[in-house]
Amino acid sequence: MTEKNADSNNMGIFSCITTPLLVGLLLYGLNKTFGKTIKNWLFASFWKRAMIEYHSTMREMKKSHFDSMQRQKSADVDLRKKSVLRILEIGAGPGANFEFFPKNSKLMVVEPNAFFEPLFFENENKYPDIQMDKFIVSNAEDMKEVEDNSVDIVVSTLVLCSVTSVEQTLKEVHRVLAPGGKFYYWEHVHDKPETWLCLIQSILSPVWCFLFDGCNLNRSIDQTVLGCKVFSQVEQKRFNIPLKKGIWGIIRVHVMGQATK
Ligand SMILES: C[S@@+](CC[C@H](N)C(=O)[O-])C[C@H]1O[C@@H](n2cnc3c(N)ncnc32)[C@H](O)[C@@H]1O
Repeated sequence: MTEKNADSNNMGIFSCITTPLLVGLLLYGLNKTFGKTIKNWLFASFWKRAMIEYHSTMREMKKSHFDSMQRQKSADVDLRKKSVLRILEIGAGPGANFEFFPKNSKLMVVEPNAFFEPLFFENENKYPDIQMDKFIVSNAEDMKEVEDNSVDIVVSTLVLCSVTSVEQTLKEVHRVLAPGGKFYYWEHVHDKPETWLCLIQSILSPVWCFLFDGCNLNRSIDQTVLGCKVFSQVEQKRFNIPLKKGIWGIIRVHVMGQATK
């Protein structure tokens, strides 16, 4: 082998090792820098389409779940005189719940994915009776911008599957609720043990979590609400949603509940 051939062979081996390494490093860097942003954008684009089928099917059931909110009185004397409630919605996403809130409610939102903001405000414009207070881009596990004992109602629909800690989120919900305030939740849950769906949810959960922005299939949220023992009263029930096809079949077991401070 001539010296020139040996040099070009070495260069070939060198580039075989360094090219994948550099590409890997570049992808790792891009994922570290923009990964969350890309995932947030993808999830917001996905959910704004998926929610149309979900919420139109569930509208009547959700309406009766939220109905008792109309009878809730504010803990704030001035607001009570004006029949106004202060509501905080965590993980509001595109804003699917405006229609269930009593007229004149003051609404605050804690939502970590800023890509939902434009669609949220587009929907908010259709409900001029709701007074928008603040849209806070943050996680529900740490709502330092919301004062202790300051809201009458906290709402969460399909959010507790995605928070990093359900227990910490419930503590925060309890902290911000005024005495007598209510937490309304509507979540998909892990099916009861020894069912096929329970097993499928356990197996799929890690991949699902990666694909759907941190959504866990294997959380028994109803048990966590009861187990955290921070609320004075909890009323909840499990039910199956009437959607069965595709992704809906996997998350068909739900819980709806109200927990009182
Ligand atoms: C499946 S979407 C549901 C959106 C809306 N609540 C609905 O019912 O259409 C889940 C929502 O939870 C939000 N979310 C994820 N992690 C969160 C966290 N740690 N704190 C608050 N919201 C969170 C997501 O950004 C998204 O808006």
